[in-house]
Amino acid sequence: MVVESFLDGTSGGERALADDVLDGLTRPFKELPPKHFYDAHGAVLFDRICEQPEYYPTRTERAILQADADAIVAETGATELVELGSGTAAKTRVLLDAMERAGTLRRYVPFDVTESMVRDVAAALLDEYADLSVHGIVGDFERHLDRVPAPTPGDRRVVAFLGGTIGNFTPGSRRRFLRRIAAMLAPGDHLLLGTDLVKDPAVIEAAYDDAAGVTAAFNRNVLRVLNRELDADFDLDAFEHVAFYDREHEWIEMRLRSVRQQTVAVRALGLEVEFAPREELRTEISAKFTRERLIADLAASGLELAEQYTDPDGLFALTLARRPG
Ligand code: AVJ
Repeated sequence: MVVESFLDGTSGGERALADDVLDGLTRPFKELPPKHFYDAHGAVLFDRICEQPEYYPTRTERAILQADADAIVAETGATELVELGSGTAAKTRVLLDAMERAGTLRRYVPFDVTESMVRDVAAALLDEYADLSVHGIVGDFERHLDRVPAPTPGDRRVVAFLGGTIGNFTPGSRRRFLRRIAAMLAPGDHLLLGTDLVKDPAVIEAAYDDAAGVTAAFNRNVLRVLNRELDADFDLDAFEHVAFYDREHEWIEMRLRSVRQQTVAVRALGLEVEFAPREELRTEISAKFTRERLIADLAASGLELAEQYTDPDGLFALTLARRPG
């Protein structure tokens, strides 16, 4: 087992957080990138979101994997699984099991920002699967994708990017990111991409505003991260959770709405941020896809759709893509 880390500094994210806050909170339309939701508390809240009855993506994607993992392995001949944002690798085991059944399982390459996650997952999987080799990467997949090891000759690689996280990218950066994934694929290799699908906006909005208030707490948690990491003084009770589906962009947005006029200090940056009454701060976009949109995004990234797997209700999709030719 090999685990390589490409993160600088203590947590790796500090500089990036300061830059994003300086950048995002000094604009007329304030915005923070969603990656800062996920400190230890945020990760727990996200896991709880996945258990809410309204939040269908996680359990639907798992059901598709369970139904179609053997077909995916048959279609790809996968010997190596590279997983971007591997986390606890809960859904990964379904794919690894199918590879083992097919007798092709050779190597797993988990890629995550949290070093302990990569190490624990690597150790656990080495225990669970005989003859599996694991090459873990600790890094930010927006910056360190090129650190993924070259495929061993004869390998059939599948790069999995699950959960619908691709939806967090704006359309332009989404295509640039897909293009960089395409560069990791040789002929015969595949991308396995999880995407949430366009559907009745009421269903989507409920998924991002669950009755138990877990998503609202998750949204506000980014302010707690700023308070702790950048010595800010956000009053979490002074911001309301907002989630709405934007039909033109085909994405859901999460925002935090200031309930009153207020000035927030971000002391580590020497910054004072003014919020007008009801002013909104955008914290996340999560794009929803159609098959046509996926085909177009893939084509713009030098990829073609090979196969698509969905659930009976058409809520979520797993798409296999490859380089044409
Ligand atoms: C982890 C990005 C796929 O967009 O559905 C869940 C994050 N935000 N509830 C998503 C999220 C609010 C999630 N992704």
